[in-house]
Amino acid sequence: MCLAHAAVAKQTVDLLNKQADGAFKPTYAMSADVKACRSCHDQKGTIENTRAMMDCGGCHFTGKAPKHPKI
Ligand code: HEC
Ligand code: HEC
Repeated sequence: MCLAHAAVAKQTVDLLNKQADGAFKPTYAMSADVKACRSCHDQKGTIENTRAMMDCGGCHFTGKAPKHPKI
């Protein structure tokens, strides 16, 4: 294993340990847009059909399907 991979492995173990201790704090805060999507689509939302923290708008509602369907 090269040193760069070792650093990634160490970082991963550190983060998992923090998560296990309940001390994990995400570095990146979710944007208001993502929070809005998740309020319906993620756990405990009205439709609850996704589990994601990525930037939804980076993929959805661009190109051929530019708008959210009417709810
Ligand atoms: C107020 C609740 C609500 C919010 C907020 C919301 N959605 Fe939805 N979304 C729904 C519902 C309900 C459907 C199902 C609509 C249908 O199929 O008639 C849906 C459907 C979808 C679909 C499927 C589209 C398709 O063509 O079938 C995608 C993708 C989606 N939402 C992504 C998002 C993203 C990304 C966001 C944030 C920008 C978002 N939604 C915000 C409730 C919501
Ligand atoms: C890296 C690109 C990407 C990101 C980021 C992303 N999605 Fe998706 N999503 C997809 C693809 C690709 C599909 C499958 C689309 C299809 O089957 O037509 C999908 C499917 C969905 C569906 C189901 C649509 C259906 O027809 O049933 C929903 C709901 C959805 N995504 C919501 C979200 C939400 C909410 C977020 C942000 C938390 C998000 N997505 C982030 C690419 C992405």
